[in-house]
Amino acid sequence: MLKKIILVVMLSFVTLQAQDIHKIRVPHISFDIAADKNFRALQRNCQWCHSYGYILNQGKQTRKFWSKVIIKMRDIYKAPITKSDEKLLVDYLFKHYGKK
Ligand code: HEC
Repeated sequence: MLKKIILVVMLSFVTLQAQDIHKIRVPHISFDIAADKNFRALQRNCQWCHSYGYILNQGKQTRKFWSKVIIKMRDIYKAPITKSDEKLLVDYLFKHYGKK
């Protein structure tokens, strides 16, 4: 009898916890990123792994820096970035988030 009571108490605790899971809300964070004709290359290649926050948090950087980031995303993290998109991406990043 005691075992049954313990089981019922445990089961109700489990379902209570399951209900709590549905209360979790993931905050929506949007990033104010520059839009131009090359922005589509960013949409194609970058956003399916991480947010634009990773780009914006770098601050203004040199063309060489952005070029290395694209190569790193492709070679280390295996993002399938084509040669022609690579150029569009570096142009875009340097134009909007570049420094001399
Ligand atoms: C295949 C997944 C993937 C794709 C696609 C991807 N990234 Fe990343 N990116 C990562 C990972 C993983 C990290 C490292 C995360 C960490 O260290 O916390 C990262 C980190 C970064 C950082 C932070 C600096 C650094 O070097 O770690 C920048 C900037 C960045 N990515 C830019 C881009 C840009 C621009 C694109 C689009 C061309 C892109 N990423 C596409 C996976 C990806």
